[in-house]
Order: sequence, then C-alpha cells, then structure tokens
Amino acid sequence: MSVPLTRACSINVDVKVGLNVVIIEPSNIYGCEIHDDVFIGPFVEIQRNSVIGRGSKIQSHSFVCELVEIGEFCFIAHGVMFINDLFSSGGPAGGDQKKWKHTRIGNNVSIGSNSTILPVTICNNVVIGAGSVVTNDISESGIYAGNPARFLRPIELGGA
Ligand SMILES: CC(C)(COP(=O)(O)OP(=O)(O)OC[C@H]1O[C@@H](n2cnc3c(N)ncnc32)[C@H](O)[C@@H]1OP(=O)(O)O)[C@@H](O)C(=O)NCCC(=O)NCCS
Repeated sequence: MSVPLTRACSINVDVKVGLNVVIIEPSNIYGCEIHDDVFIGPFVEIQRNSVIGRGSKIQSHSFVCELVEIGEFCFIAHGVMFINDLFSSGGPAGGDQKKWKHTRIGNNVSIGSNSTILPVTICNNVVIGAGSVVTNDISESGIYAGNPARFLRPIELGGA
C-alpha cells in the first residue's frame, strides 16, 4: 500500500490504497480498499467496507456505498449510483446495518452513465447501458440495458 497521487483531495487515513492510484479532488473516500492502478474522478464518494479492484476506473459523480465490491478492470461511468438499502421495511434502514445488502461486481464490467445498481451480483464481462436500473443478479456475460435492465445481446469476442 502507498500514498495515492491525489490532486489535493481529502482522503481518510483509514483507506487502504494500492500503487499508482489517482484520485481527483474533490472526492469523499473513507474506510474502503482501493487496489493498484485505480483512477477515481472528481465528486466521487466511496464509503467504508467497499473495495475497488485493480485497474478499475470510477468516473465523476459516482456513488459507491457501503458493502459494494467492484472487481478488476471495471469502468464505472459518470453518475452511477449503487444502493445498499432497499427501504424494505417501509423506509430507510437508518443505522440498522443488518438491513443493508451487498453488491458484487465481477471483472471487466462497464456500467454506463447514470445507471442505478441495486444490491445484486454481476458476473465478469458485462456491459450495462446508460441510464439502466439493475434490479436482478446478472450471471451471464453480455450487454444489458433498460429499467429494469434486460439482456440485449452477447459481447462479441475481441471487442465490438
Ligand atoms: C447498451 C449499449 C452498450 C447498447 O449498444 P448497442 O448494442 O450498439 O445497442 P443499439 O444502439 O443497437 O440498441 C439496441 C436496442 O437497445 C436499446 N438501447 C440501447 N441502449 C440503451 C440504453 N442505455 N437503455 C435502454 N435501451 C437501450 C435501443 O433503443 C435498441 O432498442 P430497439 O431494438 O427496440 O430499437 C449502449 O447503448 C449504451 O448505453 N452504452 C453505454 C455508454 C456509456 O454510458 N458510456 C459512458 C462513457 S461516456
């Protein structure tokens, strides 16, 4: 773990930071793990108990709440919102963390701008279209979009 290259960004001392990490100010980052070669754009919040995997990019204005694990070489575009509280008891869980749920994002997952990701598991090699709302687990590689996000097509090998 090393000191990240920040642009005068406030980052809590309780953050575990890997090598070659770039964090642009202003961002609010605390209690999480940020692995090697991660880029974090401005106006990003990453809360405690979250993990950002090696080589991933979190673009500006995204919100990574507690209990979110993002794998390696992911691209989280601008304004992506993760959710851990489903208001399942009729309103916010408040401090009752037993009601918060996990999200796990695999490797090579790209999430389009302005998407909302409910507490789900997404497998490796997935694209989520801009403005999507992901409400269910995704266990098959491919391109998904819409509200709720639906399978559009497979990802063409070698890059489309
Ligand atoms: C999801 C995405 C990858 C699909 O691209 P594509 O495979 O070329 O899809 P197409 O444009 O051929 O559209 C296929 C269908 O999906 C629909 N669709 C495409 N993107 C959609 C989206 N984001 N949400 C809802 N529907 C979408 C299209 O309307 C079309 O529907 P139709 O067949 O009923 O006309 C792309 O549209 C997208 O949203 N990319 C995200 C880009 C992004 O956020 N980048 C951030 C960095 S700037």
